[in-house]
Amino acid sequence: MFESVSNVSEGRAIDSGQGARGWSGVSGKRVLVTGGTRGLGEQIVRLLAAEGARVATCARTAQDLETLRGTVDAAAPDGLFTRALDVTEPERLEAFVTASASRFGGLDGVVACAGGSRGRGLEQTDAGDWAATWELNVGHTARLVRAAVPYLRTAGGGSVVVISSISGWKPGPDAQYGTAKSAQIHLAASLARELGPDGIRVNAVSPGSMLIPGRRWDRMRRDEPEAFAAFAAAELPGGEPVAPQEVARVVAFLLSDWSSGISGANLPVDRAQNAPSPDGY
Ligand SMILES: NC(=O)c1ccc[n+]([C@@H]2O[C@H](COP(=O)([O-])OP(=O)(O)OC[C@H]3O[C@@H](n4cnc5c(N)ncnc54)[C@H](OP(=O)(O)O)[C@@H]3O)[C@@H](O)[C@H]2O)c1
Repeated sequence: MFESVSNVSEGRAIDSGQGARGWSGVSGKRVLVTGGTRGLGEQIVRLLAAEGARVATCARTAQDLETLRGTVDAAAPDGLFTRALDVTEPERLEAFVTASASRFGGLDGVVACAGGSRGRGLEQTDAGDWAATWELNVGHTARLVRAAVPYLRTAGGGSVVVISSISGWKPGPDAQYGTAKSAQIHLAASLARELGPDGIRVNAVSPGSMLIPGRRWDRMRRDEPEAFAAFAAAELPGGEPVAPQEVARVVAFLLSDWSSGISGANLPVDRAQNAPSPDGY
């Protein structure tokens, strides 16, 4: 059994996930994860590699990929393949899928994790921001899956995990972000029907606010403890944001054969969070 997740609001260390080794059933799987150098993507890559999967990942910053290669604890020889690229450049993304499948002799799973938002509130957000947010979250996911399908089909089936967000159905600021995350949930459900006959499962995972060192909620907890406590009291029934390691375990489960009965689902990993932001809606 894996270790219990620590209570981050009381300053205990976030669980590394190492105690989970051996449970997930991803050993030997060949998986491509976009956006694997920071935040959730990094935790997915580290967990899969430690569990014996062979993992390909990408990000725009080559230096971060080098750092990742130097610090990943991969159980499989040749367990990590990386390439610097922007996932919104279709040809480069497709070439990376091909190169990863060639390197590993095929693919068993893909995780569309790179995502985020451009612009701010409605009046500070122009058409370019809307388009960029759509491309980063939805466009890249659709092209990733399209490029991976021939390899998943050849493998006799596979698992696709789309990282969405609770912002996909709980309204919050930055409508362009929530709109794109909502579309990812629909995309996963729709592709699950389309690709089901090929044995390819497609699911969305929707994290709540994740406590990532140095990122928004971690900074707020440190710099504005009273505001953070009010946010937690109002919106976080579990008392604290979810850790990316907790989300990574759900992703590993969906990539494993243990989840063979799940396709077309959207799995929130949010400890029953209410609103996705402290801004009141
Ligand atoms: N953070 C949260 O609380 C939260 C909550 C719910 C859902 N989510 C979702 O979870 C996913 C991960 O979020 P995160 O906060 O963990 O991300 P993050 O810390 O911002 O990291 C994003 C990763 O993706 C890479 N990336 C970003 N844009 C890219 C691009 N155009 N091409 C290639 N790689 C790119 C980044 O590396 P480079 O910058 O070097 O490219 C980095 O490795 C996203 O889909 C996000 O919408 C996050």
